[in-house]
Amino acid sequence: MESNELRRIYLQFFKEKNHAIIPSASIMPDDDPTVLFTTAGMHPLQVYLMGQPHPAGNRLANCQKCLRTGDIDDVGDATHLTFFEMLGNWSLGDYFKKEAITMSWEFLTDTRWLGLDPEKISVTVFEGDEEVPRDEESANYWREVGIPDDRIHYLDRSENWWGPAGETGPCGPDTEMFYDTGKNPCSETCRPGCNCGKFFEIWNDVFMSYNKKADGTYEKLKQHNVDTGMGIERTVAVLNGMQSVFEIDSNAPLVEKVMKLARIKEPMNEEQQRAIRIIVDHIKAATFILADDKHLPPSNLGQGYVLRRLIRRTIRQGNLLNIKQQFLPELAYFVINFYKETYPELERNKEFIIENFTQEEDKFSKALRRGLRKFNKILKEKETITAEDAFLLFTSFGFPLEITTELATEQGITINLEVFKEEFEHHRDLSRKATAGTFQSGLADHSERTTRLHTATHLLQQALREILGDHIEQKGSNITPERTRFDFNHPKNLSMEELKKIEDIVNQKIKEALPVYKEIMTPQEAKEQGALGFFEDRYEGKVSVYSVDSFSKEICTGPHVTNTQEIGNFRIQKQKNIGTGLMRIRATVD
Ligand code: ALA
Repeated sequence: MESNELRRIYLQFFKEKNHAIIPSASIMPDDDPTVLFTTAGMHPLQVYLMGQPHPAGNRLANCQKCLRTGDIDDVGDATHLTFFEMLGNWSLGDYFKKEAITMSWEFLTDTRWLGLDPEKISVTVFEGDEEVPRDEESANYWREVGIPDDRIHYLDRSENWWGPAGETGPCGPDTEMFYDTGKNPCSETCRPGCNCGKFFEIWNDVFMSYNKKADGTYEKLKQHNVDTGMGIERTVAVLNGMQSVFEIDSNAPLVEKVMKLARIKEPMNEEQQRAIRIIVDHIKAATFILADDKHLPPSNLGQGYVLRRLIRRTIRQGNLLNIKQQFLPELAYFVINFYKETYPELERNKEFIIENFTQEEDKFSKALRRGLRKFNKILKEKETITAEDAFLLFTSFGFPLEITTELATEQGITINLEVFKEEFEHHRDLSRKATAGTFQSGLADHSERTTRLHTATHLLQQALREILGDHIEQKGSNITPERTRFDFNHPKNLSMEELKKIEDIVNQKIKEALPVYKEIMTPQEAKEQGALGFFEDRYEGKVSVYSVDSFSKEICTGPHVTNTQEIGNFRIQKQKNIGTGLMRIRATVD
């Protein structure tokens, strides 16, 4: 089964079920200031889900081009993509759960359509919470079509609730359909929703009958809607028994092209595979942004900045693979030719696409080469890269911070982003004296929140160890002024009770107003004192160790608060199983 065929029969099926087939909307929403890109088929339909009549009727279906930049760091594994095509069908106040579920089942299992083995399909439904009751109705319809209870899983809001696409708008509980690939389960608790690769999510039916308001509360919409989404790439992979979305017809030839350009032969190593996958995903995403009739070029702002970032990451991965010649236009031509019948804007804007790739690649390849030379020189001389160096690379060599950060991370070095920001703002201040006042106060707020989140993250790690055991180790972390994201080794979702206990420990330590202090020592000393952190040999010099009284000790570059009471209230927002024994927690401070 190829992508074009799946797209064709899906739309055919829903046409037979009296749905009007509508075109894909732009990948850049026209009238929604809350998001930069269209992330799902429902996105352009929000006003109709809220009650406005749609000119084509109350049963719709289409194939929507989507971009999810939130997944950018996960691209490189078997399933994540920033650009993908989503098939969807909608009921705007017309049919609801029974018909949606029955139609999904028919399309998936009937031999006239996909003809999947019903035994391999399992589903999840919303387990319910204080606000919205358990979705027993959907579970019952699944039982009616023949799914046994052990393949119906009840999951919480973090798994079985969809939307809104931005801050506010239509949303609701969903039921998701998974295909069992036959792989061995990763753990005893492996189940649909686990990202280890055993269960591929192929379709999501959302029952949108709620509206999330700006104050965070939900109200019932005046109509019951259905919003569904089936990712073409994942489904085609499943239908062909493939292990990754990069093996399907719309990706495999691109993978091959990159391998040729880089003179790589099978078998390739993991690093090469990751680089190739990033290139393949990003070139598509960038081509589709450039194909938009709005003619948005790469820039340093908003959508243009995302575009620039995608292009530059592609070039950087090409550089890692030792591709010497210009390669973006060649790959872009493939994307244009492959998709132009479905998305005629690609052909229409071909010149604009190629021109922008060529220019950006010319400009950035030079900067990258010069910057890399300088980066390596600094690294050799100082054995580290500081925020000041990153700033110098940025101002004098046009070397983007993300790339310096990525390179540094590969060397086990963490760059203090706060110091970089300070340098950056200081620099900006000099040229923008007039607005300095307002600007600085905004920035002070930002860095203050980040600092609080830094210390909260140390408390979180220690609390996780206390509740789940000393095997817990940090596998990654990312802090913005809004939240902290912490990845760690653990095979399964935490129970509500465990999450609550962890949150309570952190808040208890905040309440105890514990002092936070920094000591400088050798990595050996830090290790002997039981500090957590990375002890790689490359840390020749001294390291800073931050302690929160006697509760936590970690190697870290900071910055941190001086007393835990400055942190405020700590709140876990979400957990997510990110595959093969890795969990992610997102938390914030109020
Ligand atoms: N909007 C739903 C999703 O993206 C269907 O999964």
